[in-house]
This record gives sequence, C-alpha cells and structure tokens, in this order.
Amino acid sequence: MKITIIYDNWEYDSRLKTDHGFSCLIEYNDKRILFDTGAKPEIFQDNLKELKIDINQFDLVFLSHFHLDHTGGFPVIYEKRKDLPVYIPISFRQKFSERFSEYPLEKIIPVSEKIEILPGVFSTGEAGEKVREHSMVISTAKGLVLITGCAHQGIIEILEGITKDSKENIYMVLGGFHFKDMSLGDIENRLKLLKEIRIKHPAPCHCTGNTGILKFYENYGSSLIRTGVGRVIEV
Ligand SMILES: [Fe+2]
Ligand SMILES: [Fe+2]
Repeated sequence: MKITIIYDNWEYDSRLKTDHGFSCLIEYNDKRILFDTGAKPEIFQDNLKELKIDINQFDLVFLSHFHLDHTGGFPVIYEKRKDLPVYIPISFRQKFSERFSEYPLEKIIPVSEKIEILPGVFSTGEAGEKVREHSMVISTAKGLVLITGCAHQGIIEILEGITKDSKENIYMVLGGFHFKDMSLGDIENRLKLLKEIRIKHPAPCHCTGNTGILKFYENYGSSLIRTGVGRVIEV
C-alpha cells in the first residue's frame, strides 16, 4: 500500500502548496482511493499536477465529513469524474446533493454503519455528536492502518471502536487528530490515554496542531512518521 499526502497544513515537499485542509491518495492492491479533497480547488489541482496524480485513474472517493477543509476541493472531481462512487457520512447526504446537484444519485453512497468498501478497506461508520464523521480502516500484512480526516469524535474513541471489533494490531494512524484547540494539559492527558492503545506508527498531520505534533514527537520519538504535503508512505 502506498499513501501520498496531497493536501496538508505542513510542508514536506517544498514544490507543493500548504494550506489548512487534508487529502491523500491511497493506492491499495490495484485500486486508487481519494481520501478527502482539501479546502481550495486551485491548490488541490496544483498539488495533483505537481505530484503527477491523474484523477482519471481514481476508482473511488471517500469524504470523511462535510467540513470545507476536506470537501472544498471536490469541484475538481465534480467537473471531470461524476462517474466515481463517493462514500460520505449519511448525515452529509442532503448537503452534498445541494452543493453538487448534478452528481448522479446512484454514485453517492451514504454510510451509517461500519461497511467494507473494497476487500480489505472499511469505513468505521459515522459517529460523533456535533460533527458526524467516518474514518477509513485498511487491512495490511503489517496490521491495520487507520486514516482520519479531523477525528472530531476523538482519536481515542475511534481507535477503541476498532480494537473492540478486531484483535489485529494497529500499525499506523494517519490524519488530523484535532488536538489544535486543546490546552497543553488536555493534549498530555489524551496522549497518556492513547498510549494504552498500542499504535506502532502515529502519523499526525492537519488539525493535530503545532503543540499536538510536538507532543507526539516527544511521546513516540522515531516511531512517529513525519507527514506533510507531498509525503509518500509505503506500508
Ligand atoms: Fe479538518
Ligand atoms: Fe473538520
């Protein structure tokens, strides 16, 4: 499996533009999955071009939640690939169709419960109080890989949901963990709780925030995977 970060707050490859938002391409077996689309269509498009990623080769789109820093780049897909299945949290169904009124109904797949999207690729099902969101779990030979958009319902809560259902180890957790508005004390407490769930490689980015990422470094050292826009991670 290969993951390429297309949109992120942080820099990895200086040729690419950084901005508040998240998107990545997941190449798994012979499939190409677009996870979220970042905030601004122009930046999303420019980064795709610089990374030489061709949207004609995508097989499906997964939108974690309705926030614009994850769905703002969707017009790039809407313009050229209305044939792609789009997996969205069921609570986003109405808003999605209002925003993208010409998207074929049969291609919109609202997710409520945990489902298998492709062999080995799952949605956790939507959860959360204020913001409803779903995350992606991918099964690999090294263990499970979790990818989150903003983890609004809580990264620990998402992980607990996964470990409740599966005995497989968590190999990597990548995405926004939403520590950005938390106090230092809260971040430290969350990290202490997180340590009880064994994650081999955390890969925090996007809304994890400056302090959040720094604290991840302190806690996980060299097992942390550096992220940022343009980063390619092979599992
Ligand atoms: Fe976000
Ligand atoms: Fe968000």
